[in-house]
Amino acid sequence: MQLKFSIAPTPEPDEAETGRLLFAGQVDFVKGVVAMAGLPPATRVEVCFAGRSNVGKSSLINAVTGRKGLARASNTPGRTQEINYFAVAERLFLVDLPGYGYANAPLAIVERWQKLLKSYLAGRQTLRRAFVLIDARHGAKAVDEEIMTLLDRAAVTFQCVMTKVDKVSAAELEATLAITRAALAGHPAAYPEIVLTSAEKGDGIETLRAIIAQID
Ligand code: GTP
Ligand code: MG
Repeated sequence: MQLKFSIAPTPEPDEAETGRLLFAGQVDFVKGVVAMAGLPPATRVEVCFAGRSNVGKSSLINAVTGRKGLARASNTPGRTQEINYFAVAERLFLVDLPGYGYANAPLAIVERWQKLLKSYLAGRQTLRRAFVLIDARHGAKAVDEEIMTLLDRAAVTFQCVMTKVDKVSAAELEATLAITRAALAGHPAAYPEIVLTSAEKGDGIETLRAIIAQID
């Protein structure tokens, strides 16, 4: 029997190659969106990267696409303030979202982002999977569970991706994985495999490319 919420395995060579080829082609920034009305026409399937502020969403998009400055990453939480669309080949949109759980911006602004984020996650027809990023140093928090609940209700499959694994020991990772698995257990929309990544060192990037390449 498969362990619930196991670690996503290294892809088979042909799957890895399909993933590599997808991102070796054209990847372009399309637009930054500040209101639902501004979303590009829903002509392709899309996957999004959601997670707490500073968890590493933009960095992971840069790592997956192999383009360093594509999504703006920064040490300042709250860097990404729009829904940023990237077109991958002719096939798919990658979507970089503003972070949630960030308290250090004016309340009105935080509320505007959060509203947009929630409308997007619950209401985008072509959204095939949400990657919910969790910092390997902290594990899933209450705000992550709030987003997971929203995705359950919207029936959007979400897959948990641990970020910054280069920053933790094996023992620390086991501890935060246990916290995260416990959180995921209550969510019917959770995909049963977790991806371990480091945008910095490259861990899990091949796996994530292969996973995204299989989504249609
Ligand atoms: P917001 O847009 O503010 O929500 O943040 P974000 O989730 O897009 O995070 P971002 O990619 O901007 O990264 C935040 C910080 O974490 C930056 O200083 C990154 O360099 C750092 N970081 C991201 N991924 C990794 C990683 O895998 N390892 C390490 N060590 N640092 C990382
Ligand atoms: Mg960002």
